[in-house]
Amino acid sequence: MDLRGNWNYPTTVRFGAGRVAELPDAISAAKMRNPLFVTDPVLAKLPMTQRAMGLLPSAKMFSDIKPNPVEANVTAGVAAYKSGGHDGVVAFGGGSALDVGKLIAFMGGQTRPLWDFEDIGDWWTRANAATIAPIVALPTTAGTGSEVGRAAVVTDEKTHTKKIIFHPLMMPKVTICDPELTVGMPPIITAGTGMDAFAHCLEAYCGPFYHPMADGIAVEGIRLVKENLAAAVKDGKNIEARANMMAAAAMGATSFQKALGAIHALSHPVGSLYDTHHGLTNGVFMPYVLVFNRKAIDERIRRLAAYIGLRPNFRAFLDFVLALRQEIGVPHTLAGLNVGAEKVDTIVAMAPNDPTAGGNPVPFDKRAARTIFMRALEGRL
Ligand SMILES: NC(=O)c1ccc[n+]([C@@H]2O[C@H](COP(=O)([O-])OP(=O)(O)OC[C@H]3O[C@@H](n4cnc5c(N)ncnc54)[C@H](O)[C@@H]3O)[C@@H](O)[C@H]2O)c1
Ligand SMILES: [Fe+2]
Repeated sequence: MDLRGNWNYPTTVRFGAGRVAELPDAISAAKMRNPLFVTDPVLAKLPMTQRAMGLLPSAKMFSDIKPNPVEANVTAGVAAYKSGGHDGVVAFGGGSALDVGKLIAFMGGQTRPLWDFEDIGDWWTRANAATIAPIVALPTTAGTGSEVGRAAVVTDEKTHTKKIIFHPLMMPKVTICDPELTVGMPPIITAGTGMDAFAHCLEAYCGPFYHPMADGIAVEGIRLVKENLAAAVKDGKNIEARANMMAAAAMGATSFQKALGAIHALSHPVGSLYDTHHGLTNGVFMPYVLVFNRKAIDERIRRLAAYIGLRPNFRAFLDFVLALRQEIGVPHTLAGLNVGAEKVDTIVAMAPNDPTAGGNPVPFDKRAARTIFMRALEGRL
């Protein structure tokens, strides 16, 4: 099958190998003339990034971005945006660069501080929407789905918390999903980002809300992960597997408007306190959260298992998750991420307050957080 297409939801997506070449056209479609090109310092040096920049002769680059980005990255980016007189952002990278790029386009014209726009109630309506600049997004990982999302994740260094900033106009105007851009991802990042896409689909599907549309997207996303993630990890040049994982990532972010849950609620504090990779951290927690939630999700997981070609029961699905993790090198316990018991009380206090906690299918309080964290520490399912 020719894995190319032009999609119109959740935004305009130009999907297919080689389509980075359409960047100049995408810039015009998004009505920008003088974009700031936002990426991270590792990607900035890669030939593929230089080639993409080369398609936009007058663009300037901003790349002062940490993995698990912080407010200072956004502040510096906004300064570069203003001093260059830019009128839009090309965000090129994994979730970290895409989120910072989106936040620069969002914050460039705001007068209130970043944290006033956290994804709480209707706080997003505080923003001056008229000043939000257009965004063209090009993902180079296949995981976060930030390229088709209306939110960005940034760490508040004062409180060591990952916060979600939301505005509908942070949705990129045009997204170019070119799987060739993901070919150079090291296997462990391919594995971790793939587990993020998986966790988005799974937590959305298991969420306790009525959203059949999201459910449909999530189950097909999980099937794509099952059929393609291990192949993409083993052979990074397998474009078919890379394309299907890129689709799964976009599907995860599309479906998680329904819900996320305890995987993310635990992974966010661990990521902000230990600087672990977000997707890998999700991958470690996934089976422990599944088992903890079992009573509430048993029936749903049976249906999911049947759809993706497993025996229709919870155990078969759990075994599949465990085998996939092992096959692609995701650690079974937190020790594999160099996370120990020393900050357990802090994590247990933070996790239930994470904005994703309310989407867990069973109530997720401090006690639940402690139980799951300790099991993930000790490898007890
Ligand atoms: N906006 C959202 O909806 C959303 C959802 C989930 C996660 N996130 C956030 O996204 C961030 C994680 O993003 P990520 O998992 O994509 O990782 P990342 O962007 O932090 O990238 C991880 C590493 O891989 C490198 N890399 C990326 N693409 C590469 C390529 N093609 N070749 C070689 N190296 C490459 C990067 O330079 C970096 O060193 C976290 O901050 C997380 O909280 C956001
Ligand atoms: Fe995530």
